[in-house]
Amino acid sequence: MIIETLRLRDFRNYGQFEVKPHPGINLLFGPNGSGKTNLLEAIHYCALGRSHRTAQDMEVVRKGAEAGACGVTVRTEAGTREVAIRLVPGDTRHKQVFVDRKKAARLASLMGQVKCVMFSPEDLQLIKEGPSERRAFLDMMLSQLSPAYFVALQQYRKALDQRNAILRDCRKNGWSLPAMIEDFERQMAAQAAVILPARREVIARIGAIAREKYASISGKKDEVFRVGYDCCLPEAEAESAEEIQRAFAQRSVVARGEDLRRGTSSFGAHREDLLFTLMDREMKLFASQGQIRTAVLSVKLAQMELYREESGEYPILLLDDVMSELDRPRRTHLLREITGAQTFVTCTDESDLDGCENRRTYYVSAGKDGTAAVREVNAGEAVPEETIPEPDFT
Ligand SMILES: Nc1ncnc2c1ncn2[C@@H]1O[C@H](COP(=O)(O)OP(=O)(O)OP(=O)(O)O)[C@@H](O)[C@H]1O
Ligand SMILES: [Mg+2]
Repeated sequence: MIIETLRLRDFRNYGQFEVKPHPGINLLFGPNGSGKTNLLEAIHYCALGRSHRTAQDMEVVRKGAEAGACGVTVRTEAGTREVAIRLVPGDTRHKQVFVDRKKAARLASLMGQVKCVMFSPEDLQLIKEGPSERRAFLDMMLSQLSPAYFVALQQYRKALDQRNAILRDCRKNGWSLPAMIEDFERQMAAQAAVILPARREVIARIGAIAREKYASISGKKDEVFRVGYDCCLPEAEAESAEEIQRAFAQRSVVARGEDLRRGTSSFGAHREDLLFTLMDREMKLFASQGQIRTAVLSVKLAQMELYREESGEYPILLLDDVMSELDRPRRTHLLREITGAQTFVTCTDESDLDGCENRRTYYVSAGKDGTAAVREVNAGEAVPEETIPEPDFT
């Protein structure tokens, strides 16, 4: 999959912007705060309908603008496709999706059209932080692979919100639970029968690939890296979709008393987790910084591999500021793995990618009013000093 054209309008610090990137590596370099990550964020938006760094959609609309938009034309083996998203603050339909210039009724229409894998320094949170970061990673990965998963997840969350609203109301007012709570539990159970098997399968596949990647990056055979699934229903208890649905509904009924006391749903797909272990010990608790970095890199490379297995094509790779964070062996490993995929790399220093062929280099700078300007430069070309803004500490 290749992005032929990327377009931005009033997105972050971009006004009107269009670029036809290189099918190989696109290196974006320039001073801090100039707009490099914003470009990667726009691509992520086109793939997943959301930012990788904020849950607030409207944050990406350029300050003072009435609306913002980003779009890409991608070429795949199946043909060319155009995807665009328009964000209109204050509008009832504030996020509008267009596929091949036609307005799509649902965000789900976007899923899978553009596939990307993002590497960023924040990825270390995948191991260090709480379960919600890991679930978000898992859900985004699965949504790109299967629009049906994304729809199931949306419906699950809707039913969960409704169940939680009942629990909150009843707790606050001292009421007993109404019979209709069962409707929402049934809806959650039906979606869980789609969500759980998909999570089981993808975690098993990612785990097998990541384990190999870890071994080859670290060069240590005895350091076995595993990705496990902390599922709300153990497979031995509920294997088929019907069994999951039945067991899920039963467990929801059992949880009602405790949930009423807490005012929230304590059982379900929204409480699950991914487990990262090294030599059978939980990484979050004991792993070194380097081991965590290697594990995250292995998981991301596994994600890439999985997309390729599924569609026969590489996803688009977004590497935000990771080169300077990797030591030489890891960098070499990453560069070897990404040949073949269209890649967007940001760094503050162009030399971070020295020795890398098949690339185009762009210099990103911000003007006096903060607007980003992107200029293609020859590799190694000196950038005129006056285009680099002086830091303002006043
Ligand atoms: N909604 C917005 N409207 C206008 N400008 C914005 C908006 N959101 C962010 N910005 C500006 O975008 C710039 C940050 O861009 P970005 O994160 O892409 O920088 P960067 O080049 O990746 O920097 P670094 O090297 O520090 O990672 C900041 O100057 C910020 O003020
Ligand atoms: Mg950045």
